[in-house]
Amino acid sequence: QQGPAFDVNAMTLTRWVLAQQRMAPTATGDLTQLLNSIQTAVKAIQSAVRKAGIAKLHGISGDTNVQGEEVKKLDVLSNDLFINMLKSSFTTCLLVSEENQTVLQVETERRGKYVVCFDPLDGSSNIECLVSVGSIFAIYKKKSEGDPVESDALKPGRELVAAGYALYGSATMMVLSLGKGKGVNGFMYDPSIGEFILTDPNMKIPEKGKIYSINEGYAAEWDKGLQDYIEDKKRPKTGKAYGARYVGSMVADVHRTIKYGGIFMYPATKSAPNGKLRLLYECNPMSFIVTEAGGLATNGKVPILDIVPSSIHQRVPCYLGSKKDVEELLNYLK
Ligand code: AHM
Ligand code: MG
Repeated sequence: QQGPAFDVNAMTLTRWVLAQQRMAPTATGDLTQLLNSIQTAVKAIQSAVRKAGIAKLHGISGDTNVQGEEVKKLDVLSNDLFINMLKSSFTTCLLVSEENQTVLQVETERRGKYVVCFDPLDGSSNIECLVSVGSIFAIYKKKSEGDPVESDALKPGRELVAAGYALYGSATMMVLSLGKGKGVNGFMYDPSIGEFILTDPNMKIPEKGKIYSINEGYAAEWDKGLQDYIEDKKRPKTGKAYGARYVGSMVADVHRTIKYGGIFMYPATKSAPNGKLRLLYECNPMSFIVTEAGGLATNGKVPILDIVPSSIHQRVPCYLGSKKDVEELLNYLK
């Protein structure tokens, strides 16, 4: 008897995206091309995050920096990869990155119809200490005529064509949604063949969880409703207390929330009335995915996806997760 069989017909991310394209009668293949370019960026970032090739840089003999060359910071490298891959896909016209103050216009010769907002490497405080980090992206179709301008990116999350994230955790996973009720799918990276394999088809967030996720260090700055809600999670009048988990990397915290259920919060505080997280490339794509997975995402008043952005780096308070948990929180915030 031989070892475990090799799956000779695996559903890779590339194959899955292509199949979606073939099922849409009017599709041109541009989105397929665009998603492939993001996939390439993610593969390169995961390799850098996992320090592949570090021996060459640090010298396996114990000498440090044998090459004497400066190593690019991971967040800078990730941003360069995203930008170069997206521009050279010939499918984008305007890019918004957390790392760039202004929008990036793609050169006329390389323009396509998509607008992409992204955070190339989120969780900056976790990079140096090797805790999980991630990449997040949101894709719109340009609707206006003429040259791409900032207002082409200032669209509510409801108008997204696709959104996804990559989590560089104990394994690398890409999670993608094409919206319109088509669901959420998770693809695990198999380094032995360099492909993402569909391992989590049709991801659904549990209706209710047992975990709350928030930076409690700022509790004194929350408003009363939120303080009461968290107090109730810790000392419930009936039933068991919730567990607390907070990685401090949005991608990791949201991915866990989708898998296990519960609620993730980055609230408004007295000193930061809009919270910390960015609407265009953090809250919107994550809310799009959570909503497609059957959960809820709100700023405390309206669904995140209904907010009309006023500037590209705008921040919003963000509460997302299991439907019942978010509904319960909303009662406290009233
Ligand atoms: P960054 O874009 O500088 O990495 O900040 C975003 C991150 C999120 O991933 C995470 O949810 C949040 O910051 C954590 O912030 P805090 O340390 O204030 O709890
Ligand atoms: Mg970020």
